[in-house]
Amino acid sequence: MTEGIALKTAAPAAPSVPTHTDEVIALAREVLLQNYKQQPIVLARGEGSYVWDAEGRRYLDLIAGIATCALGHCHPGVIAATKKQLDTLWHVSNVFYSEPQVQLAARLTKASGLPGARAFFCNSGAEANEALIKLARRYQHEVKGNKERSEIITFEGGFHGRTLATVTATAQPKYQAGFEPLPQGFKYAQLGDLEGVKKLVGPTTAAILVEPIQGEGGVKPAPEGFLKALRELCDATGVLLLIDEVQTGIGRTGKPFAFQHHGVTPDAFSLAKSLANGLPMGAMICSDEVGKALPSGTHGSTFGGNLVAAAAAIATWDIATAPSTLQENEAKGEYLRGLALELQKRHPERIKEVRGRGMLFGIELDQGAADVLARCRANGLLANLAGEKTIRFAPSYLVTREQLAEGLAIFERSL
Ligand SMILES: Cc1ncc(COP(=O)(O)O)c(C=O)c1O
Repeated sequence: MTEGIALKTAAPAAPSVPTHTDEVIALAREVLLQNYKQQPIVLARGEGSYVWDAEGRRYLDLIAGIATCALGHCHPGVIAATKKQLDTLWHVSNVFYSEPQVQLAARLTKASGLPGARAFFCNSGAEANEALIKLARRYQHEVKGNKERSEIITFEGGFHGRTLATVTATAQPKYQAGFEPLPQGFKYAQLGDLEGVKKLVGPTTAAILVEPIQGEGGVKPAPEGFLKALRELCDATGVLLLIDEVQTGIGRTGKPFAFQHHGVTPDAFSLAKSLANGLPMGAMICSDEVGKALPSGTHGSTFGGNLVAAAAAIATWDIATAPSTLQENEAKGEYLRGLALELQKRHPERIKEVRGRGMLFGIELDQGAADVLARCRANGLLANLAGEKTIRFAPSYLVTREQLAEGLAIFERSL
């Protein structure tokens, strides 16, 4: 049957499907762009906080799709909602209304606390941040009539994505090198240095963009009071406060959105990663006032708000931000901190600092984090590197205390 189709359409013969780890990796090295440093295992199956490789080996997954699989792998509730949608309607584009998208927007906007909040859907964190940047510029230019206000202030060590604008917002030279000329209109400050930010804010500033916890940069939380001080500065100067919640959003830190720990409300913020529990989806949420900047025809995305992703996101949201889950995320984060601090006491020369909140955690080593990570993997634990020396954990919110303890025991053995 397949042969018949192949003959009729004269399609080129597909490469044979490899069945073993070595073959998959060999083919990957031949056919994939070599832009990732991939771990030498082929993951084939997942359930909850565990994944299995193609050889049947089990790993405790404390990085869960790099902070995307908020409810772990193959959560039955998310599967059921997603399957139902797959059987009903997949995609209609934004030319038409569709219920899952609207129901999801209603949940996100209500929880955000932004006045008259509105949602825009896209497919990734970079796109959500790109929307923030475009929103801020167009708000200043078209709604406020300040054509000169174009600059976005971001923070060294931050990460906002890989498109040209978001990689420029990402104040880390290693991500920008070779892509010049970079878009104009970005300035960089130090996280926590309010005086430094004040020096950069002027009549050409459109917005400040900040992560509540710098994730990729090494799990570095913004200092206490810093976001509030930025909010006050923005209010005093007519600058927009934009918050990147791509990694911290959807309950990961124990609140639906991490800015809610800081007693501030941004003008707009971005979401992705955990939003649809591992299906690609991003969102930009903004206040009604700021949202006037993007009327019909000014911005869009073909796949944004895709029905299947939206159905997965609704099912995820309802569990991930239930009060009991949020409480547990905070409590398990403190449990993890306690374990990590004990570890630090036993290995003060190796462990420099323990940072994070809820289900986003980093252990900074003196050196050699890549080697430790490789040994963790060999010992059956998956985590990843954030920055040069920090090992990051972003487990499923449904991870158990026993699994966290098991993970840190493997980590200690791998040190
Ligand atoms: C805080 C933050 N913003 C933006 C991004 C970019 O998201 P994406 O890779 O989905 O484009 C990431 C990805 O790691 C992130 O952690």
